[in-house]
Amino acid sequence: MISLEVRGLTAGYGPIGVLHGLDFRVGAGEACVILGANGAGKTTTLRAISGVVQRAGDITFDGQAVEAWSADAIARAGIGHVPQGRGTFADMTVDDNLRVGGVLRKDVRGCANDRDFVLDLFPRLVERLSQRAGQLSGGEQQMLAIGRALMAAPRLLLLDEPSLGLSPLLTSQVFAALQRLRDQRGLTMLIVEQNAELSLALASRGYVLEAGQFVGAGSAAALMADDGIRQAYLGA
Ligand SMILES: Nc1ncnc2c1ncn2[C@@H]1O[C@H](COP(=O)(O)OP(=O)(O)OP(=O)(O)O)[C@@H](O)[C@H]1O
Ligand SMILES: [Mg+2]
Repeated sequence: MISLEVRGLTAGYGPIGVLHGLDFRVGAGEACVILGANGAGKTTTLRAISGVVQRAGDITFDGQAVEAWSADAIARAGIGHVPQGRGTFADMTVDDNLRVGGVLRKDVRGCANDRDFVLDLFPRLVERLSQRAGQLSGGEQQMLAIGRALMAAPRLLLLDEPSLGLSPLLTSQVFAALQRLRDQRGLTMLIVEQNAELSLALASRGYVLEAGQFVGAGSAAALMADDGIRQAYLGA
């Protein structure tokens, strides 16, 4: 089954075209990565899926054409987005940030279960529940941002550079949590990253984005073995 299917996706800002016709898909339960350097269009790709930037092309989510839907409708349909730079509410407590994530849900029991799951996934957040999000370290904010997105019970999670600005230790903790989400929950994920090593270890397939176009695609193993990719993204 296919979770997300995108055809001929273009997007940009005003007169500036950034994406020039992307075709890709994410299978249900699959973790998929889009690798790209600074300015390649990774963030714009996720924003186009979420409907927060002008876009054209076909976007099918769980069999429904969603390209004409508002950002709000897309979020309610089950696409969660963890933005670059995390986007937590700095003046709100960790606890309230999590509450906001689940605010549209009516299943109180499911919401409580997901809160327990998030705190089990990121034990660092437990001790910090009453602290303001703005006081957290970068890595803790990344955990909170992912936790908040999970509180909305998404069926597809978009992650914008979850490793950005994190120490190697925190990065590996965040990716271990994503691995658990994939293995224990079967959560479908689309990750955009510059960290090829960790993201290709998590993902089953990937695409390589350069200047708004794909210049490569394949299984994670094939991409990992590719010399050009090793040079560009693995410092090899
Ligand atoms: N709000 C905006 N207005 C105009 N141009 C923008 C805007 N945001 C991004 N761009 C341009 O779009 C292009 C792609 O940007 P995007 O943020 O999607 O890249 P990225 O791959 O996420 O880069 P990074 O790794 O630095 O986050 C860049 O040339 C950028 O300057
Ligand atoms: Mg970006």
